[in-house]
Amino acid sequence: MDAVETLYDPWSPEFVADPYPAYARLRAAGRAHWHGPTRQWLIPHYEDVSALLRDRRLGRTYTHRFTHEEFGREAPPAAHEPFHTLNDHGLLDLEAADHTRIRRLVSKAFTPRTVENLAPTVRRLAAGLVGDLVAAGGGDLLASVAEPLPVAVIAEMLGVPEEDEERARLRPWSAAICGMFELNPSEETARRAVVASIEFSDYLRELIARRRKSPGDDLISSLIAVEGLTEQEMISTCVLLLNAGHEATVNTTVNGWWTLLKHGVRPDPEKLSTAVEELLRYDTPLQMFERWVLDDIEVGGQVIPRGSEVALLFGSANRDPARFGPTADELDLTRADNPHITFGAGIHYCLGAPLARLELEAVFGELLRRAPNLRLAAEPVWKPGYVIRGFDELLVEV
Ligand code: HEM
Repeated sequence: MDAVETLYDPWSPEFVADPYPAYARLRAAGRAHWHGPTRQWLIPHYEDVSALLRDRRLGRTYTHRFTHEEFGREAPPAAHEPFHTLNDHGLLDLEAADHTRIRRLVSKAFTPRTVENLAPTVRRLAAGLVGDLVAAGGGDLLASVAEPLPVAVIAEMLGVPEEDEERARLRPWSAAICGMFELNPSEETARRAVVASIEFSDYLRELIARRRKSPGDDLISSLIAVEGLTEQEMISTCVLLLNAGHEATVNTTVNGWWTLLKHGVRPDPEKLSTAVEELLRYDTPLQMFERWVLDDIEVGGQVIPRGSEVALLFGSANRDPARFGPTADELDLTRADNPHITFGAGIHYCLGAPLARLELEAVFGELLRRAPNLRLAAEPVWKPGYVIRGFDELLVEV
């Protein structure tokens, strides 16, 4: 085993439980590291992650410029096609002109006003869910509060009617699809993602047809109204909004409370937004994003050639003392200078960041008010993948 494999073993439970010591060693060892098992270049420094996110010589896809053969990669198996059709037409996995066009159109439908209008719904939902948890004397914070809130908000925003039985399937569909974003997904994971992609797309196709006939006050109706999106792009955008719109929010809520309870601290309700930013930095919910190298780049004197894949280590960047100073590894709920990279940078910068912040502040605020004695009922267990960092459950008492 060479040195980098010793420093970074993303499949080991120790790494998943606490990747931060490994990141510190990677940062000390250099700026770009070839990692054989994943065939990726690891980028651990804040300055490099931030610069590469903005660098147009990299892309989330390469298919707008090269065929798979030209790029030295294999086409995905035909059996995975429904997943790729869905994923590859979403904003997040497009580059160049298609990305610009769709981002502009989606931004017209998903505006600051949309988020503002959702605020009362978000607060009402948070109050109801936290109220139920408190009345029950505790329970699983993930299943009873952290997860239902963002899923209900997206369902509401997209206009998925409450009476549609598919509303209960949004979360399992999303979980099945997101399995593909971990390192080297298994065939079983791919099979589940394919089934979910087909079922979810069929449902949305039918919902879009309903909204074409009778538009409502919802995002799907707005996406139809802005014109310029194909039906596939609309379906892919809705799925992206659901997936991107709740996985990380669920985990930030749960990981954040775990961090607070472990440290025995509670944020000052008056300074909640600063504390939420620090929780987003301190334990980054989406630990790593990948990019393809479309033209040769150089990082720290190391040439990384076209056709390579880089792994941008967000979790490491957010703990880099070169950017966050000597207290980078400490939890400071009043940290003032906090340009964390958790929502990304450059053209793919998170479109939902204002909504995520609204949801997090609502749910943390409600729990601070209603559950002054919130405590852990059991030590949680990390999920095996490290990219989407989270627990299966967080049992608490109030
Ligand atoms: C704590 C919660 C969240 C985190 C940490 C997060 C993080 C991110 C990151 C890092 C990216 C860029 C990925 C890359 O550059 O490869 C991204 C993109 C995106 N996010 Fe979020 N996100 C969150 C919540 C949300 C919410 C609530 C929504 C919408 C309802 C949302 C919608 C999107 C969309 C549509 C994109 C793609 C933008 C593009 O490609 O132009 N996200 N998010």
